[in-house]
Amino acid sequence: MKNIIIDCDPGHDDALAILTAIANSNKLNILGITTIGGNQTLEKVTTNAKNILEFVNSTIPLAMGQSEPLTKDLCVAPEAHGESGMDGPYFNGEKYPITSNNAILFMYETIMKCNDKVILVGLGPLTNIALLIKVIPDVRSKIEYISIMGGGLDRGNKTPLAEFNIYVDPEAAQIVFNSGIPVVMSGLDVTEQAEITIEEINSLKNKGRVSHLAYELLHFYNKSGRQFGFINSPIHDLCAVAYILNPKMFSGTSYYVDVVTEGKARGLTFADKRLVSNQAKNILVLEKVNREMFISELINALEVLDKI
Ligand code: BDR
Ligand code: CA
Repeated sequence: MKNIIIDCDPGHDDALAILTAIANSNKLNILGITTIGGNQTLEKVTTNAKNILEFVNSTIPLAMGQSEPLTKDLCVAPEAHGESGMDGPYFNGEKYPITSNNAILFMYETIMKCNDKVILVGLGPLTNIALLIKVIPDVRSKIEYISIMGGGLDRGNKTPLAEFNIYVDPEAAQIVFNSGIPVVMSGLDVTEQAEITIEEINSLKNKGRVSHLAYELLHFYNKSGRQFGFINSPIHDLCAVAYILNPKMFSGTSYYVDVVTEGKARGLTFADKRLVSNQAKNILVLEKVNREMFISELINALEVLDKI
């Protein structure tokens, strides 16, 4: 059993990652979910997290994190996720309780209380996680690794060079990457292979209620993805959870990776690929995913939740 905390900004793909993690309760012990301003404002993404958790009758503690990046202004992504940050489904009010308004303290206390090491999952800008390890560095020895969706060695999406999560808070990413904690990076190199086809999306429509929710999420997300040239839909954030569930569906290479924080290349993640380098390799960069295994992981998880 792996102990995890999911830090997220739901977000369609965040929601699917959360649902898949919840369905795998035999493998993952979700100690908490924390929110971060990213795809939309902190208030909106927290509402979305509440709606998802309530929809599956969860009891996982939910904590609110930072509303702004460390030094820059927040920029949100309504073009990808809509005005609510998770447009598509209709939810019937949000009653889900907030356990804490201080995600950093919540993460610290939860990690220190846990008997084993904890895996942090970062599905949004890395502000909360960076603050945790900067402000309370003794927590580092209790973190097994950090599995993030962010960056890309080969391309960007927010800009030609920068992926959205890293672009929003590059200073936070720099702290996380140079923290000495192992990082597994699901960047655009791999997440754009992790796509669900329209046929697969439509196949979810008339199954159970959670599959139907995933259909509604993906239906909107597929439509919004068209404006960026995607026919199928890459489920970026699910990669960071799928890696923990089954690392064998991925392959990758370890590099020293850092982040550009200023100028035109702000948010660019780059790897030291020199044959001889004195930089210690700090990040496992995922490069390939078995798409069929990845989509089966999602579809099976939704079927499990349909039965509850
Ligand atoms: C990342 O940005 C967000 O829009 C998604 O939720 C994902 O975390 C993809 O670049
Ligand atoms: Ca996200």
